[in-house]
Amino acid sequence: MKVLGTVKEVRDQVKRWRARGLSVGLVPTMGFLHEGHGSLISKAVEQNDRVVVSVFVNPTQFGPGEDLEAYPRDMDRDSAYCESLGANVIFHPEPSEMYDPDFTTYVNMEVLSETLCGVTRPIHFRGVCTVCTKLFNIVKPDRAYFGQKDAQQLAIIRRMVRDLNMDLEIVGCPIVREEDGLAKSSRNEYLSPEERQAALILSQSIFLGEKMIAEGEKSAEAVKKAMTEKINTEPLAEIDYVEVVDGVSMQPIDEIKAPALVAIAVKIGRTRLIDNTIVSD
Ligand code: PAF
Repeated sequence: MKVLGTVKEVRDQVKRWRARGLSVGLVPTMGFLHEGHGSLISKAVEQNDRVVVSVFVNPTQFGPGEDLEAYPRDMDRDSAYCESLGANVIFHPEPSEMYDPDFTTYVNMEVLSETLCGVTRPIHFRGVCTVCTKLFNIVKPDRAYFGQKDAQQLAIIRRMVRDLNMDLEIVGCPIVREEDGLAKSSRNEYLSPEERQAALILSQSIFLGEKMIAEGEKSAEAVKKAMTEKINTEPLAEIDYVEVVDGVSMQPIDEIKAPALVAIAVKIGRTRLIDNTIVSD
């Protein structure tokens, strides 16, 4: 497996694969990989002849005061993990390789990016759309893989690909959880042992919402209220949002019907975590 740092090296490598008629999958990540990423890489290896994993902590998706500098990084571990899963190339550029000092072009999505995480992270999805567009243009993959854990991001990427006629398939993969229910996230690394225990309130409230809906509850308000009350039993938890939205448009709904998304963001101490569940037919 190769680790490549420049756009040119990746383009040249992909051209050589294309000349041999090989298909290419891309797994965009910010590194500090865990089994959630692992499931994306494995899926990509299964569905493509060659797989590129990008490891890039993308500065344009972090707002002022967010954790850009503190974001955990471990390239040696990430390389070994990607290799063990059968990836062929890691694309690990410096920020200056991705963004010229006078960079001024962004991909901005309206509506879908204005709810849920977009309320408190107003520039986040502009950065995500921009870097994913760049990665798609650099790698030109047949397929790109994203986790359902970032459900709003996945919906936005799907819409961007549709709206801008990008020529690739977006593959969404299910949330991977720890044995006790906590959704895997690179940011779990920030949690102290006490916070790690408190963070279970996220999955517990998601499972509560799932149970209510499975038992026939149709009122988004009732589900949100029960989940909010549950989260508020945890003293270390501070709610950012508890929402029920349409699964495609990301707009709030009153009556729960598929496809819907029940999504939460909760701060445990200083760490902001997200979790969700999809309501399907
Ligand atoms: O989900 C992530 O890790 C990032 O938002 C992504 C898609 C790699 C873009 O930087």
